[in-house]
Amino acid sequence: MPKTPQVMILGTGRAVPEKVLTNVDLEQMVDTSDDWIVARTGIRQRHVAEPGTALSTLAVEAARNALQSANVAADEIDLIILGTVTGDMKFPAAACFIQEKLGAKNAVAFDLSAACSGFLYGLQIAEGMMANSGYRRVLVLGAEVLTSMVNWQDRDTCVLFGDGAGAVVLGQAVGDRGLLQTCLRTDGAHTGLLYNPGCGSVNPPTVENVQARLHSIRMEGKEVFRHAVTSMTEALKEVLDREGLGVEDLDLLIPHQANLRIIEAVVKRCKIAMDKVYVNVDRYGNTSAASIPIALDELRRSGELKEGALVGMVTFGAGFTWAAGLVRI
Ligand code: ACO
Repeated sequence: MPKTPQVMILGTGRAVPEKVLTNVDLEQMVDTSDDWIVARTGIRQRHVAEPGTALSTLAVEAARNALQSANVAADEIDLIILGTVTGDMKFPAAACFIQEKLGAKNAVAFDLSAACSGFLYGLQIAEGMMANSGYRRVLVLGAEVLTSMVNWQDRDTCVLFGDGAGAVVLGQAVGDRGLLQTCLRTDGAHTGLLYNPGCGSVNPPTVENVQARLHSIRMEGKEVFRHAVTSMTEALKEVLDREGLGVEDLDLLIPHQANLRIIEAVVKRCKIAMDKVYVNVDRYGNTSAASIPIALDELRRSGELKEGALVGMVTFGAGFTWAAGLVRI
């Protein structure tokens, strides 16, 4: 059923660490090559936080930029939802640090863990809380310092990830502009294909577990790839179907930026023209929950997000979790 939007994006922001790690830099660290990384992933460089960087520092910079672009003051925000799997600490939630650093003293704040799907999960939760619980100005963020859990000796994974933060400010929709559809999915049967085994209750950070590097990312790349393509394709079609629209109605598609080959495979299956598809994985690598809001902000600031444009968003991540969204700008 086509939906009348209830909430819309009032502003966007992003932040990435200054330090850039190129594929050539990685050649010095691990047995890999620029050619291999570009051919298999499309990634050329990624931004990398200094060790010990607080996720909330990056996220606050993105949030400030979003507030400024929305012309909303920090104390007008009444809800902060942060999608992340790399918060400052195990607890409290990084969203609490963000609330304090921003001066968003009237905001309820919490993190949500849905890996690369965290931002789109956050959008749907925000929409529901705005409709049912009276929240009016909401900050939804996706932010990660994934390099804090990267094993730089593991070439299978260390070339893929980067750090960054993206944010949007949501408010009441105006006319037909706003969030039309979100579709969230989970399949817990595949937790063993992409995970970080350490630091939770199963493998607490004992000396032995840390020495065994249990706090780093484990991934069955080929399987993740296969599931990502199928699931992202289905989710995108689902949100379009619900609006009675087809891919030809999309002005722009923002896919999760994990791997150019995944993006190309989804685009081929959905029969979308590649010139409607935003790609920045070459510059950032996979920033997980941050990838879609970073792209949204780049597009808005470059003037490519035109008012009235129909934008699709689609993602896939650990869990497995996946999601799609449809927004009229
Ligand atoms: N440099 C050079 N060679 C490498 C590297 C590297 N960095 N990594 C692996 N290889 C080698 C492998 O050892 C293997 O060698 P072998 O044939 O001698 O055994 C060969 O390259 C091929 O390896 P594959 O794993 O088969 O390569 P594949 O084409 O599957 O590409 C990749 C690997 C890029 C990881 C791909 O599977 C992929 O992108 N999967 C999805 C991963 C992903 O996006 N994860 C995150 C998504 S979810 C989220 O965003 C959190």
